[in-house]
Order: sequence, then structure tokens, then C-alpha cells
Amino acid sequence: SPKIVRTLPALRNQMAKWRAKGKTTAFVPTMGALHAGHLSLITLGKSRADKVVASIYVNPTQFAPNEDFDAYPRTEEADIAALASAKCDLVYIPDRGTMYDSDHATHMRVGGVAEGLETDHRPTFFEGVAIVVTKLLNRVAPDMAIFGEKDYQQLATIRRLVIDLDMPIDIIGAPIARDEHGLALSSRNAYFDETGLAVARKLNGIMFDCAAKIEGGQALEIAIEMAMRALLTGGFHVVDYVSVTGASSLAVQKTGHPETESRLLIAAHCPRNGVDGTMVRLIDNCAIKVG
Ligand code: PAJ
Repeated sequence: SPKIVRTLPALRNQMAKWRAKGKTTAFVPTMGALHAGHLSLITLGKSRADKVVASIYVNPTQFAPNEDFDAYPRTEEADIAALASAKCDLVYIPDRGTMYDSDHATHMRVGGVAEGLETDHRPTFFEGVAIVVTKLLNRVAPDMAIFGEKDYQQLATIRRLVIDLDMPIDIIGAPIARDEHGLALSSRNAYFDETGLAVARKLNGIMFDCAAKIEGGQALEIAIEMAMRALLTGGFHVVDYVSVTGASSLAVQKTGHPETESRLLIAAHCPRNGVDGTMVRLIDNCAIKVG
């Protein structure tokens, strides 16, 4: 089983021991409610480093007041068992209240790749992610850290952040893990009943179909419009965006034909169940290969 540390001195003590022995370390930050997608990051870390460290912390600063911070699934015991099965070496679970000092007053404004897309709909999200990831990277001080492509704009934002702040940490992107219907695994999938799941599982098919049409030469404005319509017809309620961007610039291209490696990114609201009209916001993305 992994060693579990809940305080910063205990974490630093274990990291220092490994560093003294010349062991390399990979870090996988999470908010818990772990699924096979998270565990694939642990496995990737095991293949790249001697020791893998995971953290579990539901970060309040990345949730807007109207979002699901209180309802976010918390499954610590099952998470630790899952991390054990994935051969994780160390789990950092900061005690509630020990991440942010009561007088915490430092904020981060992230621009560039963090602008647009998610930020148009969750304006303070990346600010919260940036501060907690900076703090976690400073606390753990690993050789490398692993983030999923599931949260593609988050991965790009963190790549930018470690460059801009001179952090000596390699950022590694991991492919999206999907269920047998292609639905990208997400802790929030736990909110769905069968009716909600049936709609949610249409998202990836519509996305891959849209990417294939663009690769086949269809103009962006037409492919995007068709995907939006397919989502609404398929039962999604609001489509936040269907956007094609440069794969690393994340600059949005609205019309014509992409000429460089591109990414198709989608965010849409899916009914949670067939009963009460509540929604779960889903995001997904895939590559668009050109040339
Ligand atoms: P969380 O949503 O728990 O995700 C933790 C990591 O797992 C992220 O890097 C995310 O991209 C990755 N992940 C989630 N689902 C995945 C999937 N289906 N396939 C591959 N990777 C997947 O993202 C966060 O937490 C937080 O914002 C965090 C970075 C921990 C900061 O609080």
C-alpha cells in the first residue's frame, strides 16, 4: 500500500529521503473520486520515474460559488485502495484548512492559452487551478508531473505556468481514458443515471465524427454547426462551445480549413437524469490531424 502523508513536513521528509537516494519522482495531482483515467496517470508515472506521488485535494478556489464544491464526490478510502492497486508509492492528502493560510492573499492571473474556451464560461477557474497547482508543485517538488489531456486547456495552462515561473519540473500529458462507449471517464460521471449516461455517451461520437469531417476537408464553420446541432438533437441542453484551435497555441480558428496540428474541444451541458432537469457539464477533446 502507498504511504499516506497528511502534513507538509511528512511530505517533505519522504521526498528528501528519495532525493538523497537518487530516486526520480513523478507527481499526479487529483481531486479524488478516482477512476481508471486517474489510475492511467499513475501507471504512466511508474513507467517514467522511480516513485509516484499522488495528491487528493478538492480545491475550493477553482469552484465558482454556483458550482458543485460541496457535492463533489469524496471517496477517500476507495481512492487509497485504488492507488494501492496502481502501485502508487505515496499519497499526499493535505488536512482540510492546511492548503490555504487564513491570510492567503496571493492571486495568479493566467493569460494566453488560459484565455477563451473554459474561461468564457468559468472565468475564475484557471486562476484557482494555477494557484493550487503552483502550491502543490512547490510542496511536492517532483522531477515531473502528469496531467490528463481530458482537461486539455488545463494541461496547456500548466505547461505555460512552469515555463513562466522557472519551475524545474517536466510536465507530461496523458491520453484520455474512455469507457466502453467512448465516454471520457470523469469523477462527475457519478452524477448520471442511465438516462443521463445514454445522452452523455453520444458526445464522443459526435466529436470524432466532426474531427473526421474536418480532416476530410469539410469547412470548419459547417462541421462545427453540424456538431452543435447533433448535440442539441441528441439531448444536450446548452452547448458552451465546439471549437477548433491550434494544438498548442489554443488559438481558435472559426472558418476555413486548419493548416497545422489542431484540436477539437467541446463543452456541453447534459441532463443528469430523466427526472429533475438538473445538468452535468461535460468536456471532451480530440486531435485533428492535417496534411
Ligand atoms: P481531477 O479532475 O481529479 O483530475 C486529476 C487529473 O486526472 C487531471 O490531470 C485530469 O486531466 C486527469 N484525468 C481526469 N479524467 C481523465 C481521463 N478520463 N483520462 C485521462 N486523464 C484524466 O484536474 C483536476 O483534478 C484539478 O484541476 C487539479 C489539477 C488536481 C487541481 O486541483
